[in-house]
Amino acid sequence: MTNRTPLIAGNWKMFKTCPEAIETAAQLVKLLAGAREDIDVMIAPSFTALAPVSDVIKGSCVSLGAQNIFWEAQGAFTGEISPAMLVSAGCKYVIIGHSERRQYFNETDETVNKRIQAAVNNNLIPVMCVGESEKERESKNTFSVLDKQVKKGLEEFSPDDLERLVIAYEPVWAIGTGKTATSDQAQEAHQFLRSVFEKSFGNTLAKSIRILYGGSVKPNNIAELMAMPDVDGALVGGASLDPETFSNIVQFKR
Ligand code: 13P
Repeated sequence: MTNRTPLIAGNWKMFKTCPEAIETAAQLVKLLAGAREDIDVMIAPSFTALAPVSDVIKGSCVSLGAQNIFWEAQGAFTGEISPAMLVSAGCKYVIIGHSERRQYFNETDETVNKRIQAAVNNNLIPVMCVGESEKERESKNTFSVLDKQVKKGLEEFSPDDLERLVIAYEPVWAIGTGKTATSDQAQEAHQFLRSVFEKSFGNTLAKSIRILYGGSVKPNNIAELMAMPDVDGALVGGASLDPETFSNIVQFKR
């Protein structure tokens, strides 16, 4: 048994206008009223919807997250968003290094590292995404890819810096494809990630760090995934857009 509180997080990606986001968040709050309190819940809408959604979820069990963060405090960086902007919009979490950012926006382990530093410095909880592509899995490089992403992404950090860090293992081949990793595949990767943390940052952090699984999580596969000893929650994409579906994932039957 561990004391890791499970976290179920919804990544809304580039979906929902402000009114749609407000409506979805309001429905979710209603559906989760009275839900069990031993699970943390987070939703990450688009930047424009952060502040209004923050008002809607105030006082509920749902916390707010952003989908990215820039590392500079302020300045001439057109189109970027600063840590203080996210904090002032009500964010508690920030997703960093999602595979879509790595794939389409040239995100690298080095920029992931800077963004995590910015989150840590501003008291935001980073949700750091790692995961291998289909090709990397087929060529049996899953572990070496994960090892590199963690080590480079967290280079120069101390275990104290990473106390609240959350890792999301998201195999790229399982994102938006309907191909979920089997619970055994997820467990194998999560166990490996925990061992990387143990070697790099010590036993205490390795035992306390929450490792989420992401990739085609649905109400019908969440329980099986959560039953795995090293799976501490989920980062849900498509199935987080509908409040009822997401609330069923949060309230999965154990
Ligand atoms: P799907 O749940 O749509 O596969 O997306 C997963 C994801 O990328 C969450 O960040």
